[in-house]
Amino acid sequence: MTTVCCPGSFDPITYGHLDIIQRASKQFEHVVVLVTVNKSKKAMFTPEERMVLIRECVHDLPNVTVDHWEGLLVDYTSKHGITAMVKGLRSGLDYEYEKPMAQANSKLTGVETFFLLTSPAYGYISSSIAKEVSLLGGDANGMLPDNVLAALERKRDALT
Ligand code: PNS
Repeated sequence: MTTVCCPGSFDPITYGHLDIIQRASKQFEHVVVLVTVNKSKKAMFTPEERMVLIRECVHDLPNVTVDHWEGLLVDYTSKHGITAMVKGLRSGLDYEYEKPMAQANSKLTGVETFFLLTSPAYGYISSSIAKEVSLLGGDANGMLPDNVLAALERKRDALT
C-alpha cells in the first residue's frame, strides 16, 4: 500500500490544505495528515485541537488518517515506512520555502516530496491570514471550514 504524508502546522487547517489532502487521497492509497511543530511559529491551537479539527474535516475520506509528530519529519516517515510526502504550492514564494526542505529531507533519508499546485480558488488563503481576519472581527468564511471557523471564534471570544 502506498502511504504518503501531508505534513504541516495546520494552525488551523484551511480550505487550501483540505483541497491538497482531498486531491492526494485520490492519487494515493493512504494519506497521513501529520500535524508538526514549527518552532518558528507561535501556535494558536494545541496539536490535539488541530488534530480534532482535521479529523472532523476529513471524516468522509476513508483513506485519510491524522497523526502528530514533534521531531524531524524524516524520522516519522522512516519509522512508518513512508517514502513520500505531498505538499501544496500556492506561489513561487512557497516554492522557494519548500525547495530546500524537500532537498534536505531527500538528502537525509531519500524521502520524496510531491508538490500539488493549489487550486486557484484557494491560492490566497493561509492559516495566518484567516486567523488575523477572524481575530480582528472579519469574516473568514470561504477560507476555513465551518467547524474551524467556529473554533477560531471561540478562541477569539476567550481572548476578548
Ligand atoms: O505548515 P508549515 O508550518 O509551513 O509546515 C512546516 C513543516 C512541516 C514543513 C516544518 O515545520 C517541518 O518540517 N517540521 C518538522 C521538523 C523538520 O523535519 N525540520 C527539518 C525540515 S528540512
